[in-house]
Order: sequence, then C-alpha cells, then structure tokens
Amino acid sequence: MKALVFQGPGEVAWQDAPDPDVQDATDAIVRVDAVTLCGTDLHIVKGHVPDVEPGRILGHEAVGTVVETGADVRTVRPGDRVLISCVSSCGRCRFCRERRYGQCRGGGGWVLGHLIDGTQAEYVRVPFADLSVHPLSNAVDSFDAVLLADIFPTAYEVGVLNGRVRPGDTVVVVGAGPIGLAAIRTARLYSPGRIIAVDLATSRLEAASRMGADAVVGADDGPEELVAELTDGLGADVVMEAVGAPETFEMCTRMVRPGGRVANIGVHGRPVALHLEDLWIKDVTITTGLVDTCSTPMLLSMMTAGRLPTADLVTHRFALGQMEEAYDVFGRAAETGSIKVALGGPRHTEVTAAPLRVGASA
Ligand SMILES: NC(=O)c1ccc[n+]([C@@H]2O[C@H](COP(=O)([O-])OP(=O)(O)OC[C@H]3O[C@@H](n4cnc5c(N)ncnc54)[C@H](O)[C@@H]3O)[C@@H](O)[C@H]2O)c1
Ligand SMILES: [Zn+2]
Ligand SMILES: [Zn+2]
Repeated sequence: MKALVFQGPGEVAWQDAPDPDVQDATDAIVRVDAVTLCGTDLHIVKGHVPDVEPGRILGHEAVGTVVETGADVRTVRPGDRVLISCVSSCGRCRFCRERRYGQCRGGGGWVLGHLIDGTQAEYVRVPFADLSVHPLSNAVDSFDAVLLADIFPTAYEVGVLNGRVRPGDTVVVVGAGPIGLAAIRTARLYSPGRIIAVDLATSRLEAASRMGADAVVGADDGPEELVAELTDGLGADVVMEAVGAPETFEMCTRMVRPGGRVANIGVHGRPVALHLEDLWIKDVTITTGLVDTCSTPMLLSMMTAGRLPTADLVTHRFALGQMEEAYDVFGRAAETGSIKVALGGPRHTEVTAAPLRVGASA
C-alpha cells in the first residue's frame, strides 16, 4: 500500500509501506476512504513530538471500510463503514471504565499515528476495534464524519464541557483554528448569551462568524478591552484557550470573570506562567485535558439527524495520493486560507488538477 511516512524532523513522504495485518484478536484492518490532517501532525513533522519515531505512518483521523477483523471483534464486520476515533480504548483499565479513554493504560489512548502506524495510508490497523471505531449510517457523509474523529469531540469535551458553558454565558474562544471553530459551534448548543472569537488571522475570524461567533476581534486589536466593555468590566464566564501559546493562555486568565472558568485546549510545548498572584482571589476554575472521545456517539447522533453542520470546515479536498500537496496547503494556512483539508477518493490515482476548493457556507 501507499502511506505517509515520517522520515524525521522536517520530512514526510507518500511511499510504499507494508500492508497492515491483524496482530491481536481485537484488531480491525480498515481501508481508508476519507482522512484529514491535524495541527498535531504538523507539530510531529517539525519534530516537536519526540515519541514519534522515523518510519511511523502519521494520522489519527479517518473514515473507512472494515476489510478484516480479529477473532475477538464483535461489533463490526468486513464491509462496515466506520469512523476511526483519534483515541483508542482497551475498555478494561480504570480510566476506560470511567470513559476517560484518553488516559487509557491498557494500550489505547492516542496511539494512532503516534506510537503505532496511523490513518494517512490506504489501510490502517485499528487496535481494540470494538471500542475504537464507530459504525456509520448511510445518512452521514464520510467527509463530514471524519471531523468527528478528533476536532469536534476535542472542542466539545475539553472546551465546552470542561468550561461548563451555560445558557446566557459570555464565552470567549481564543484561537479560531479547526478546534476553536468547532468549540464555537458546540458551545452554541448551550445557548450562551454571546460568543467572542479572538484570532490573528482575518480569514479565521471570518470563519468564526460563519460558525456562529457573535463578535470577532483581532488578537492585536484589544480583545481584553472588548471583553471588559461587553461584560461591564467583569470578564467572561468561560474562556477557552485553543492556540497552545503562553501569551494566549495568560490572556485567557486575564479575561475570565471572578468565579469563571478557563478551559485550556491548546497543546503547550513551552512553559507557561500561572499568575496566582492575581488569580488566587478570583475563585476561577482552570481545566486541562486530552480528548477522551466519550462524546463521539452523541455528536454522531446529532450529525446523523442533520443537527451538526460541519461541511464548511473542510476548505480543501484532495485525492489520497496528493498527501504531500495536502500537507503543503494545510501547513501554509495563512496563505492558502485552509481550515481542514480532507483526502480520499480514487486510489492509486494521481489527480493533477488544482485542489478543489469547497465553498464555505453557513
Ligand atoms: N487537548 C487536546 O486533546 C487537543 C486535541 C487536538 C488539538 N489540540 C490543540 O488545540 C490547539 C488548536 O488546534 P487547531 O487544530 O485549531 O490549531 P491551529 O494551529 O489550526 O489554530 C490555532 C489558531 O490560533 C491562532 N493564533 C495563533 N496565535 C494567536 C494569538 N497570539 N492570538 C490569537 N490567536 C492566535 C491561529 O491564527 C490559528 O487560527 C492546538 O494547540 C492543538 O495542538 C488539543
Ligand atoms: Zn488531532
Ligand atoms: Zn483502557
């Protein structure tokens, strides 16, 4: 098969790789029909995730068709179309029993495209298939469902649920990348009073408006002043950090009201200051989290019912064999305007036409 293989910092290649086979009785082999790239993949390519060794096939988000199952797999069979979750689950360890799959100690957690070969390939071995894939109904398009592999559960669980968004709340989302945008959309499920999006890029702020932000503001255009103005100087009820930078995390802790919640979603690679000299007196709650994907069945139900529009997040579509081009377009988001890039379709076919730009619609 062909797969996107990490060569070491700075380099990936779409090349021949051995077809995966069933190694454990709980495995499924899935043919990849739709796959996306994540900001985390870009971190890996830059060499920021040292656990990922050269030779690893990247990717942790996909939709595909089961082609083979191990003897112990009960819930899916060859021919089933499934969503592959970014987090696998052994189902037996103490964390899995609490539905905290991200913390799995039994061989699951975030392993795909990290500790084992991932989904940016023609075929992938998914461990613990019964708990790590979700069968899809015909009502759901593969290129919509693939957004439920990572970004929607992450935004909803680590942002909206940890931040305990309530009706009437003023919610600030700092960072309007795919995660921040999905946080805006899922925060709306709770009827907040207003959602304010903060980003550096105009294209991202425009996308935030389409996703349902009531106000958008450039990170350099006084977001703290705007939040103060809109909340009578009190601060926001909920502030979500969806960038992963010291300055944005610190800004979030300055924008929260006394008694409010700061939900950190961003992955931080550098030390971040926690200003307890200011915060100790404010009764704030600060949460951190790795996605568990325990909300995926609920999000999937919403999507199946047509109540979770997502298509406007996929800005560029490619054939699977255009993986390197997709990395280039996704990696230069500021210039290309990409939000999520998705690949799939003809196998072993190099499509030379310019990438299809899917028009955004609210
Ligand atoms: N906790 C988890 O389980 C989990 C899972 C997946 C991703 N993440 C993390 O969530 C974060 C967001 O992911 P993404 O895919 O949307 O990333 P992204 O890089 O596509 O988006 C980040 C956005 O932040 C904006 N930004 C950068 N600097 C800024 C600043 N100073 N002020 C305001 N905005 C700024 C960028 O313009 C961009 O739109 C990343 O750190 C990612 O690694 C966390
Ligand atoms: Zn991801
Ligand atoms: Zn487990």
